[in-house]
Amino acid sequence: MTFDDHGDALPIDYDTVHIVGRAHQRALIDELEHRGSRVTAVEGDRVHARGVPGVAAWADNSWLAPAEYPVASIGSAAKRLKAIQRNWHGHHADHFRRAGLIADKLPTIRFRPLVFPSLPPTAPLGAWSLVARDRMIVSPVCSRAFADGQAVFVEDRHGPPNRAYLKLWEALTLARTWPGPGNQCLDLGAAPGGWTWVLAELGATVIAVDRADLAPAIAGRPNVTTRVGDAFGVGVDDVGACEWICSDLIAYPDRLLALARYWSEAAPNANIILTVKCQGTVDPGLIAAFYAIPGARLAHLSANKHELTFFRLGNGGPPEAARV
Ligand SMILES: C[S@@+](CC[C@H](N)C(=O)[O-])C[C@H]1O[C@@H](n2cnc3c(N)ncnc32)[C@H](O)[C@@H]1O
Repeated sequence: MTFDDHGDALPIDYDTVHIVGRAHQRALIDELEHRGSRVTAVEGDRVHARGVPGVAAWADNSWLAPAEYPVASIGSAAKRLKAIQRNWHGHHADHFRRAGLIADKLPTIRFRPLVFPSLPPTAPLGAWSLVARDRMIVSPVCSRAFADGQAVFVEDRHGPPNRAYLKLWEALTLARTWPGPGNQCLDLGAAPGGWTWVLAELGATVIAVDRADLAPAIAGRPNVTTRVGDAFGVGVDDVGACEWICSDLIAYPDRLLALARYWSEAAPNANIILTVKCQGTVDPGLIAAFYAIPGARLAHLSANKHELTFFRLGNGGPPEAARV
């Protein structure tokens, strides 16, 4: 038996499978329906959709080329997966023992935590799921190269004052670019200083704005300038040319939209990374307004809570993030 064609693929009624945590499932479904997709099934943390294929902002990972195959035996399932490509991550809600026996026959992949700064893995990582004893979903193409889309880092438990730095580490990793010596960064909503710490560690100069004080160890760094006050009142004339505009401000989404619009126009060549804090039900119309900003992309990062990360990058990326 050979697996170099799709001859025995089962009929499916979806073009994309999105993986999403329970807390963001409603937001993901609203996002998909708003863009014209139809949700054909919700099975645990899998959402199957048809209509407008592609990455979704709220998804932890989007399986972009799904197919279903019969599983006649453990050996034949493993043989099929290996015939398609080398690297797979199994994502199962059931049939763990049988799935484990299939996985045992696949090449072992060590998912080593990333050391920041570094680029995301380049090897394609497929996802497969034994959705019934005799049936599996297989997607060689996924939006993210991390197991289940979760970026895991070797953490720094001493430098940063909180764990918010992980959000910027992940955003910059997906951005595949980061500031360095000679770059000026604006960090809005900077206290207590996790993001400022990331930018300063990279060697950039940072203007950190917050109503609250930054941790003294961060505020006192030679490449950090602090401003205490309303971050919404800071404009390009106050800070001069910045290559990077970062914001982790807690504010209503419409204010953050206005902020993203302002900085996108006022600093057309800057890279922008901005957290879109959401509250309860997410208005897909408001999310669409973020997408309307030229170059905008949105992603739910592993380190994000009920929030999305807005990117407007000179390099057009990250490809893991959704765009219209
Ligand atoms: C999630 S925290 C930022 C955490 C920070 N990125 C870090 O890594 O430590 C949000 C911050 O936004 C600040 N903030 C909220 N509204 C603000 C405003 N209008 N002007 C300045 N800072 C504001 C809060 O004081 C708070 O420190």
